[in-house]
Amino acid sequence: MSHMNAEMPAGSAPAAFPRRYLMCRPTYFDVTYSINPWMDPSRPTSTEAGLGQWKKLHDLFVGLGHDVQLVEPVPGLPDMVFAANGAVVVDNKVLVARFRHAQRVDEARAYLDWFGRGGWSEVRQAEHINEGEGDFLYVGGEILAGTGFRSDLRAHDEVREFFDRPVVSLTLVDPRWYHLDTALAVLGEGEVMYYPAAFSRQSQATLAERFPDAILAGEADARVFGLNALSDGRNVVLPQQAAGLAAQLRERGYIPVGVGLTEMLKAGGSVKCCTLELRAEES
Ligand code: ARG
Repeated sequence: MSHMNAEMPAGSAPAAFPRRYLMCRPTYFDVTYSINPWMDPSRPTSTEAGLGQWKKLHDLFVGLGHDVQLVEPVPGLPDMVFAANGAVVVDNKVLVARFRHAQRVDEARAYLDWFGRGGWSEVRQAEHINEGEGDFLYVGGEILAGTGFRSDLRAHDEVREFFDRPVVSLTLVDPRWYHLDTALAVLGEGEVMYYPAAFSRQSQATLAERFPDAILAGEADARVFGLNALSDGRNVVLPQQAAGLAAQLRERGYIPVGVGLTEMLKAGGSVKCCTLELRAEES
């Protein structure tokens, strides 16, 4: 944890309430395999540039007043920087991920160990394929759950039972938006933004009914992972290329804070993917 030298970025404001985040330094970051359409192992990556970009994101969260904890990166697990996939944490209960692809399966061990150090009312690993907050997003007392590419539909029932919270299943249909958090972001109590074309017709109808006032993203913003954003209820941290969404957010009274995470984008991830929210108290 580093609380030193953190400054509030110009134009931002103190968080609506401070959050607790878990992140993982991209010490071993690389694109050595391809498990989503953005990953091209023949394209060079720079671990050094990745480290610099990640540190800016980390320091930004600290500067906004959030408590950022770190899980130790493991050699040979180049996607571990995407901490959002490690677990779902709601009401101080932890359901650790079970990854779909062999290349990421061993990440779960690191999260089991980290959460195993204590402080949680319950910690266990999911039985069904479950990619953590990549596919499970808490909004206003419920959990929105993605399926289609990664998390198994049976994991949605498991999450409902484990957390004893309503779960709304949503089906993703375009492999470029393979995790729910690449196509939808929670902004505040009951408020979201999403890219409709990433969802099945039925899921589009579900979203339209539940969130009639949602911000709808266009394809250009969705392509630069503008929806892979993280809101603290006031500041919305998102890729700086997502200019359209930034303007829409400003109109709604949010403060968009753009960051450059071009290295992570090569692996198909951005702001939200790098950040797991630790929801301790019942809300
Ligand atoms: N390369 C990683 C994968 O395909 C990226 C994960 C992005 N994480 C996320 N929460 N969407 O698994």
